[in-house]
Amino acid sequence: MPAVIVLGAQWGDEGKGKATDQLGQNTDYVVKFNGGNNAGHTVVIDGEKYALHLLPAGILSEGVTPIIGNGVVVDIEVMFQEIDEMASRGVDCSRLKVSSNAHIIPSYNRLMDQANERARGKNQIGTTGRGIGPTYADKMNRIGIRIQDLFDPEGLAEKVEAALAPKNEIFAAVGMETLNPEVVTEELLAYADRIRPMMCDVSLEVNEALDRGDTVLFEGGQATMLDIDHGTYPFVTSSNPTAGGALTGAGVGPTRIDRVIGVAKAYTTRVGEGPFPTELDDEVGEALRIKGGEFGVTTGRARRTGWFDAVVVRYATRINGLTDICLTKLDVLSGYPLIPVCVAYEIDGVRAEEMPLDQAGFAKAVPVYEELPGWDEDISGCRTFEELPANAQAYIARLEELSKCRIQSIGVGPGREATIVRYPLI
Ligand code: GDP
Ligand code: IMO
Ligand code: MG
Repeated sequence: MPAVIVLGAQWGDEGKGKATDQLGQNTDYVVKFNGGNNAGHTVVIDGEKYALHLLPAGILSEGVTPIIGNGVVVDIEVMFQEIDEMASRGVDCSRLKVSSNAHIIPSYNRLMDQANERARGKNQIGTTGRGIGPTYADKMNRIGIRIQDLFDPEGLAEKVEAALAPKNEIFAAVGMETLNPEVVTEELLAYADRIRPMMCDVSLEVNEALDRGDTVLFEGGQATMLDIDHGTYPFVTSSNPTAGGALTGAGVGPTRIDRVIGVAKAYTTRVGEGPFPTELDDEVGEALRIKGGEFGVTTGRARRTGWFDAVVVRYATRINGLTDICLTKLDVLSGYPLIPVCVAYEIDGVRAEEMPLDQAGFAKAVPVYEELPGWDEDISGCRTFEELPANAQAYIARLEELSKCRIQSIGVGPGREATIVRYPLI
């Protein structure tokens, strides 16, 4: 029985929530392995929309055990708000488990995120402002606060004081209000009793589940091009949303993984700052944004839009060892006579098939387009590959060739049922 990683192959918002939910109906566990409430994963069931930030998409499927892995950064207040909201909509959240090793986003790191962005001025990253970067920085700096610290009030008070002191100096220097460590400690301790029964050893739980032959799905937040190591640094998030991150973020070894699915849109979007070679900064891009409903689930920001970039997805295939691509939003491309696809870049007049060596090169990359014939039909009702118009089938075939990976499923609408599964995995 498989262990399956689901991750973003582009710059995020590819439809990982829908893909996880769709696959997750037949799984036993869904484990989030990175990021935090910077993510916004949408699932649509029977026309009802659920926006998930911290909670794994598996929470919407009966019988699935959803787990927040050690690689996630947890804003506890937000997590409980989300649990309460889901519970009020009839979703059973009682099975949710959280790693005792996961780091907490204390309120001061939300403020640090804002202070950092302000200090960057015109070079700002356009973060979600959720405190993600400062919390991962504290983790690496070994001054982070973990879920398990909530059960040692004295130790917690010392840790908060040590972590907050240098930040208060920065807040004071930039004219922001400083925080009282005792108040922050009390705020965190207020959640201890509620979180205690949810604590778990994720690595043990997941490995034992795999030993039993259970199916485990690892759900990534963000995406390959936002990876701290492999993305468009510094315009990235502060975690590893790539396949390696799934292993460290849940405590499993590479030999246990059966499939790695990269979720990719049939075109490309990006939120926040940073290079984006196929971006359509014109009325064509605006029309695509409206047609695709490309507005952020977390911040409501308009997403930047562009054509499919096969260099990016080929790169995602390599970085993650993708076995499959889950292609989403093909329905949005109906109605274009010709659909440009970026097959390579031109950098300083030289053709590049692969991601350039440095970001200076990537920033100058000019897409080399191949124009593929489009289709007019509404494909949202198609449920088999054969039902798709011939040109849509040819588009898929060309994307597979360029991405060096098979396209396992095709999304033709936001609903759980609006998926063409070509190769069942679970
Ligand atoms: P995630 O962050 O990767 O989970 O993606 P988001 O939820 O942020 O954004 C994806 C958006 O596309 C959501 O509004 C989904 O409901 C929607 N969506 C996902 N797959 C499809 C699809 O195949 N067709 C259409 N039209 N919408 C889709
Ligand atoms: P999902 O899981 C798209 C982007 C932000 C910003 C950069 C850093 O829904 O695909 P951060 O707050 O993480 O420090 O911001 O990363 N970003 C996302 N873009 N989808 C996401 O999540 C994102 N999470 C972060 O816009 O450019
Ligand atoms: Mg999203």
